[in-house]
Amino acid sequence: MNVMVIGAGQMGGGIAQVMAAAGNKTYLYDVSEEIIAKRIDFITSLLTKNVEKGKLTDGQKADTLANLIPSTSLEDAAECDIVIEAIVENMEVKSQVFRELDRITPESCILASNTSSLPITEIAAVTNRPDKVIGMHFMNPVPVMKLVEIIRGLATSEETYQAVRDLSLSLNKVPVEVRDVPGFISNRVLQIMINEAIYCLYENVASVEDIDSVMKLGMNHPMGPLQLADFIGLDTVLAIMEVMHEGYGDSKYRPCPLLRQYVKAGWLGKKAGIGFYKYS
Ligand code: CAA
Ligand code: NAD
Repeated sequence: MNVMVIGAGQMGGGIAQVMAAAGNKTYLYDVSEEIIAKRIDFITSLLTKNVEKGKLTDGQKADTLANLIPSTSLEDAAECDIVIEAIVENMEVKSQVFRELDRITPESCILASNTSSLPITEIAAVTNRPDKVIGMHFMNPVPVMKLVEIIRGLATSEETYQAVRDLSLSLNKVPVEVRDVPGFISNRVLQIMINEAIYCLYENVASVEDIDSVMKLGMNHPMGPLQLADFIGLDTVLAIMEVMHEGYGDSKYRPCPLLRQYVKAGWLGKKAGIGFYKYS
């Protein structure tokens, strides 16, 4: 299968890695060659670590890297069977990319979004093929996490759904179908917890480390909610809360002012080197 992944950020990079590892010719598209090169270096280091651990052969590493093709031209999507978009969580920006993809790709091509929260039906509506538009929501870090939430828009066809389900299974992931509501299941549940943890910090209930310790040691979470927020990206966490706040019109989704302040300061978490924690 020929695949294009749009966005070489942490999610796009992970999606491209698993697609390429499963034998698909995978274009990794972003706005600059530097961003893509940096992501491919990161993927290379992950594969090298897996070879050292004996989880991967040198040949498998070489095959995966050979299947990864950097692209700064959206026109490369003309050769693809599926495109998976993983850019910033913003409806206007995503819509613009889907309009372009609708023009460039063959009629048979599936257009999927890795959006965390935005309505698939609304994204589909900017194209002339809403039956071929679908949500394919991977979890971070993609090579490790088993889940793919699959979201049909109002017009998504059964054929498109089955193709994306089969593709998820071929990546050794577990697909779960969820209705097209803001935040789906994953973020409707997770982000409420993260936002509440930020409110606890804002109200001085406990320190960053102590809030995370309560959830790690008391609830057996692999990382605390504040560390997880840093890991997701605080810009993404805020965007998801805003989509749910607007989408449900319910004040339980109101983003904590401290979260807004951190995003305004550029403290976006791990990818910025600073969020609730500092990263070197
Ligand atoms: N990319 C690829 N692999 C990675 C990785 C990355 N960024 N980070 C860690 N790994 C791998 C490691 O190489 C290691 O692999 P092996 O077992 O083969 O050695 C494995 O993950 C475990 O890593 P570590 O031992 O270094 O650390 P850990 O035990 O703390 O696990 C973790 C790391 C898997 C990330 C774990 O902390 C975890 O599960 N955290 C929570 C993740 C989570 O909740 N993700 C969902 C986020 S929400 C979302 O994705 C949806 C959304 O729309 C926002
Ligand atoms: P990120 O900030 O790490 O990466 C986004 C990438 O998109 C950047 O490399 C940027 O250069 C690129 N980009 C932005 N606008 C673009 C455009 N118009 N054309 C091409 N490339 C463009 O973000 P991320 O964490 O990888 O998130 C990407 C998407 O995946 C978002 O919709 C997010 O909600 C979703 N998502 C995120 C997570 C997570 O844990 N971070 C999990 C699941 C889904």
